[in-house]
Amino acid sequence: MTAGEGARDRDAAGAGPQQRPAIAPVDLGRIHVPTPVMLSPMAGVTNWPFRVICESYGPDGLYVAEMITARALVARNPKALRLCRFAPSEHVRSLQLYGVNPAIVAQAARMVVDGDMADHVDLNFGCPVPKVTRRGGGSALPWKLDLFRELVSQVVSVCSPAGIPVTAKIRIGIDDEHETFREAGHIAQEEGCAAVTLHARTTAQYYGGHSDWDAIGDLVGELDIPVFGNGDIWGADDAMAMMRETGCAGVAIGRGCQGRPWIFADIRHAFAGSGERVNPTLGDVGDVIMRHAGLLTEFFDGDERMAVHDLRKHIAWYLKGFAVGGAARKAFMECETLDQVSREIGRLDPAMTVPERMIDKPRGRVRYAKKVHLPYGWLDTRETTHEQRETLFGDDPMDAGY
Ligand SMILES: Cc1cc2nc3c(=O)[nH]c(=O)nc-3n(C[C@H](O)[C@H](O)[C@H](O)COP(=O)(O)O)c2cc1C
Repeated sequence: MTAGEGARDRDAAGAGPQQRPAIAPVDLGRIHVPTPVMLSPMAGVTNWPFRVICESYGPDGLYVAEMITARALVARNPKALRLCRFAPSEHVRSLQLYGVNPAIVAQAARMVVDGDMADHVDLNFGCPVPKVTRRGGGSALPWKLDLFRELVSQVVSVCSPAGIPVTAKIRIGIDDEHETFREAGHIAQEEGCAAVTLHARTTAQYYGGHSDWDAIGDLVGELDIPVFGNGDIWGADDAMAMMRETGCAGVAIGRGCQGRPWIFADIRHAFAGSGERVNPTLGDVGDVIMRHAGLLTEFFDGDERMAVHDLRKHIAWYLKGFAVGGAARKAFMECETLDQVSREIGRLDPAMTVPERMIDKPRGRVRYAKKVHLPYGWLDTRETTHEQRETLFGDDPMDAGY
C-alpha cells in the first residue's frame, strides 16, 4: 500500500468512521515529545528561523536541524557552526550529523557533547544525492553492516553518558533488490538508538512515486524502539492515516511543511481528536513571510540580502495554491531587501484563501533518481574491506548537502 492509499480507498468506498489510531507521547531518553510529530531535517530549509516558525504552531513536537557534515563541524567550518545555532525559544535542540568515517562522526558528537551544543543527535542514513552516496554515505551506508554498526555504536557511546539520545534516519534501501531497513533498524536498536525514522523510499526512488507505508508497518513490527514514519504526509489526515495504517509511534514531516508550517498545528489538532484546521488568508501568510524574513536576517547576522535570497524559495512555497499571478511571483524572486518583500506583499489580496481542492496537496521535489551512484563494487559484499575504508574515509566530504 502506498501513502494514504488505504485512507483514500476507504473514503471512496464510503466506509464508516475510521478507527482512531493509538497516539501517545514518545520519550527519547530524557526527551519527552508530547505530540509525536517531527520536523524532518531538510538541508537549506530547517535552519532555526524555519524551525521557530514551525514550532510556534506545534510547540510540543520535535524539530530537527538540517544535516551537518561531521568533518566540517570538526574543522569548525563557519557555515557548519552557523547551522548548529538554536533560538532560545526552541524546546529541544536537535541536530543531525552526517558522515562516513565513524571516528570523525564520533569526534563531531564529542564536540556536541563537550560544547553542550544539542539535546538530541540524529544520524543521517537517508541522503540519496549522488555526491553523498558515491562516497558510501547517506542512504548507501547501511548496506555495509560493519560500517553502519560501528558508526552508530561510536556516536551512541559518546552521547549516551551525557544523556543525549541518538536516533537514526534511514531509507528502505538502495533499490528494490537491495533493501537495508530491517537490518539497519535492528542494528540501530541493538547499539542503543532511542528511535529510528524510516523514509519509506529507496535511494533509487529519490523523491519519486509514493513512499511504501507497508515497510513502515513492517519495521514497527520488528523493533521495540519507537519508529517514526516518513514520506508523503501532506496534511493532518495523511498523518492520521499513517499512524493508523502502520502503527508507527510518530510521524516525520518534510516537504509537507514547506510554505505550510501550520501543518504542525493541524496535526496537533488531529492527534488530539479535533477537526480544527488552519487555513490562513494570504494576508496571514504575508505576516508569516515577514516574520520569517526578520528571523532569517538575524540568522544571517543582519545580512538582509542573504536573508531575502534564502527566503525566495520559501516565498514560492508560501504562495503555492494561491491565485497569485506569474508577474507577482517573479517580482518576489527579484527582491533584495525586506522593504521590497514587504512592498510586494502589500500588493497581494489579503483576503484570498487557498481553494479547498488545493489544500494538502504534494509540494517540493518529486522526481526519481536518474541513476544510483555508489562506490565501485559497493553492492558486492555487506562488509567493507580495508582498502574500501581507506578510500571512503579519504573521500569523506566537507560540504555534503542535498
Ligand atoms: C530539500 C530537502 C532537503 C532534505 N535534507 C535532508 C537532510 O538534511 N537530512 C535528512 O535526513 N533528510 C533530508 N531530506 C529528506 C526529508 O527529511 C524527508 O525524509 C523526505 O523529504 C521525505 O519526507 P516527505 O515526504 O515528508 O517530504 C531532505 C528533503 C528535501 C526535500
